[in-house]
Amino acid sequence: MNLTPEEQSLLAGDQGKAAQTAMRILTALGKIFEAKRMLPVRSAQVSGVSYDNLGEAGLEWLTEMADGGGRVRVHTTLNPAGMDLENWKALGIPAEFAEKQHRVINAFTRMGVTPTCTCTPYLAGNLPARGDTIAWAESSAVCYANSVIGARTNREGGPSALSAALTGRTPEYGMHLDENRRPGITVRVTARLADTSDYGALGKIIGDRLETLGQKPIPWIAGVDSANLEQLKSLCASAATYGGLAMIHMQGITPEADSYPAPPENISVSESDLLRAKESLMDAAARETDFVSLGCPHLTLQEVARIAGLLRGKRVAKEFWITTSRPVKREADRLGYSETILTSGAKFAVDTCCVVAPIRGRFRAMATDSAKACYYAASKNKFKTRLLDFDAVVNEALEK
Ligand code: F3S
Repeated sequence: MNLTPEEQSLLAGDQGKAAQTAMRILTALGKIFEAKRMLPVRSAQVSGVSYDNLGEAGLEWLTEMADGGGRVRVHTTLNPAGMDLENWKALGIPAEFAEKQHRVINAFTRMGVTPTCTCTPYLAGNLPARGDTIAWAESSAVCYANSVIGARTNREGGPSALSAALTGRTPEYGMHLDENRRPGITVRVTARLADTSDYGALGKIIGDRLETLGQKPIPWIAGVDSANLEQLKSLCASAATYGGLAMIHMQGITPEADSYPAPPENISVSESDLLRAKESLMDAAARETDFVSLGCPHLTLQEVARIAGLLRGKRVAKEFWITTSRPVKREADRLGYSETILTSGAKFAVDTCCVVAPIRGRFRAMATDSAKACYYAASKNKFKTRLLDFDAVVNEALEK
């Protein structure tokens, strides 16, 4: 790789041990992917924040990077942690876990990372512009950034995203190159999409089909008339989970879609495909559901407002987690939504989510509108799942 004098100095350790480690990680990645040079990045989003995923080894590494003088050079935000950083006791998080989780956050903040703890950084002050080079981890946010915003990022892991943050660089390969952003397959959608759960199911269908085909072309989706922020974040989360996709194009909707002709290879998604995909994520009966969660990816303010409207004057009968970012929760407090929600007995799970919190085996079955949450609830937390429309999830929480 061609390194600039500044990059060589970072690699030589002239600018501290942590920056040297970070540069070593990035040059190793660059070699593997045959990058010719480094690119400057505008922002980073770091994953690997929950102590449940990091464990002691991860905490030690982060502490070493902070002790080694690591300091971010660009705006850097964090993925969800393993608990609500303020209200962890209400979610039944053990004190021992909380102590470790606070140490993780402390290591990040010592390096200058903004502890947003959300998978929707673009709703919490880390919003790139079209064409910006960024280094984001968190697969749903990566897919959203490439597809909907038109920024450019690979699917970084926690260490490579932190390394980009500490050096302000990322190797030029993959999604940073024009040729790798071209669509390779047309997805013709005739199914009617309305709810966020429909968009999540569409992401699952596309992901599953591409897995079966054994290739990962970027899909160019046609036939969808409109899609709002909430629907697109659900689709991107699901396409990233089931198909490992870093990007989708949607004709007339996403910014780069119309620069390309429709690829000749075709798959189609009908109404019955959509129903089948949704049914495949319904392995629990209503009476088995003892956990309800909305907010994967983290809820927007509009979604919180919708939940408040549906819960006004009612009491929930099940454990109900409403997961969102701290800035959205603050707005919800100011507008009175939080009070309505808390009065109903539902709980906010801010800074965290039902997947990264340490709740493995704690519940039998979870209801959600998120196809991504269904995947991890089953694989990581061993829950049965019920994928329902957004409003039906709230109703499920109300039913005894
Ligand atoms: Fe976000 Fe957790 Fe879902 S990190 S995308 S709410 S699994």
